[in-house]
Amino acid sequence: MFIGLDLGTSGLRALVIDEAQKIVTSSEAHYDTSRPHPGWSEQDPGAWTDACQTVFAKLRDSHPAEMQAVRAIGVSGHMHGATLLDTSGAPLRPCLLWNDTRSAEQAKRLDENPAFRAQSGNIVFPGFTAPKVLWVAENEPDVFAQTAKVLLPKDYLNFWLTGVYASDMSDSAGTSWLDVGARDWSNTLLDGSGMTRAQMPTLFEGSAPIGTLRPDIASTLGLSPEVIVAAGAGDNAAAACGIGALSDGQGFVSLGTSGVLLTGRDGFAPNADSAVHTFCHAVPNRWYQMGVILAATDSLNWLSRNLGQSPAALTAALGDTISGPSSLRFLPYLSGERTPHNDAATRGAFLGLDISHGPTDLTQAVIEGVSFALRDNLNALASAGASLSSLIAIGGGAQSRYWVELIATLLDMPIDLPAKGEFGAALGAARLALCAATNADPDTVMTRPDIAETIAPRSDLRDAYTAAHAAFTQSYPAIRGLTQ
Ligand code: XUL
Repeated sequence: MFIGLDLGTSGLRALVIDEAQKIVTSSEAHYDTSRPHPGWSEQDPGAWTDACQTVFAKLRDSHPAEMQAVRAIGVSGHMHGATLLDTSGAPLRPCLLWNDTRSAEQAKRLDENPAFRAQSGNIVFPGFTAPKVLWVAENEPDVFAQTAKVLLPKDYLNFWLTGVYASDMSDSAGTSWLDVGARDWSNTLLDGSGMTRAQMPTLFEGSAPIGTLRPDIASTLGLSPEVIVAAGAGDNAAAACGIGALSDGQGFVSLGTSGVLLTGRDGFAPNADSAVHTFCHAVPNRWYQMGVILAATDSLNWLSRNLGQSPAALTAALGDTISGPSSLRFLPYLSGERTPHNDAATRGAFLGLDISHGPTDLTQAVIEGVSFALRDNLNALASAGASLSSLIAIGGGAQSRYWVELIATLLDMPIDLPAKGEFGAALGAARLALCAATNADPDTVMTRPDIAETIAPRSDLRDAYTAAHAAFTQSYPAIRGLTQ
């Protein structure tokens, strides 16, 4: 048995697979994000370890025999978070998350040093780890003075499990401290942000073992202390492992809290200026590129909270097929934006509100705004030389057939919907655990899921949506100064 843990933004999911990758069972536990000020987003690392104990307690209750047969665990997690630890390994403050944009000023300053784009292959985005730690250094100097190690969220969970300070290449690539082409910490970038190598964990490939469970944790979780822990992956690399996207052209569109358009890459070919992210993959000698928008289902959830109707009820009212763009336009920049704008200060907007508009019109506009932003991401990927030849839709939003048909039409590409089952980051993490324990070749392990349905672009509506997208792209420069 192998376990994949996905430390998501809203909760922890555990997935158990057997040696043949058959799903055995899963369990989940939720935790909160605190937003003490606009633009701030934090989680207590203790909530992650509590959630870990909860998911294992559920698994032990439902599948005691299988838990005795667990050979390895792999963890994936939300990326870029800064977990600052003292010399004893205790967290010094809540973790600053990927969608925390308080360090825009620090990010801008680091990004002005050309070494950062040149070596990390990426813009220094406010959500990335280095500017967040610089914010702590400048605003909470007592905390920074005690900071012995900085770990990414899933690496904190791995540290709690094993006692080893480790990270994998895919997650470390999102810190702004990694030389992403060389797959090693960069002394220049560490130095350029006031950090040292001693504050960094040891680097591993995601499919490599970092150690075994600490005996006390093994007994708390009800597992053997011989259980191996893999280095794991950032959630997007793990999801790519889950759907078998390792190489050029193989990709996914993820409609989760954030929205991601991702393709595997056989080589390192950054184009930082396009705001495309170029990161190491979770397996050796591979990279991936993606455009990231900060509020995908987060935009729909925001609407749902304000209208008092569930996201599923809102999307159900749109039906299953698209029939042409709305005249109402929504800019989905509720938390600022990464690709393509790199603008933490901008905010969302509705344009063209009419006295007749009701909840369904607002929903259509929100879904369209997020989809237009994903089309912007396709253009950004193309400018980096990345092309997608196949695309699988994953994430909660992919349950809306309307939404997937809209994206297929806007990207002018058929989109595959996997057959029922598991294919996300938790499966990718479990597959990394399998590789770590058995030394299996990742190419044979990270296979594509069975496809239930392929949604074709609506060629009859392509021109109408392309025109609406063109109007959308004109909106951001027009309102940039007005929404901050
Ligand atoms: C990627 C990113 C998000 C998080 C949250 O760069 O910030 O996708 O990993 O899932």
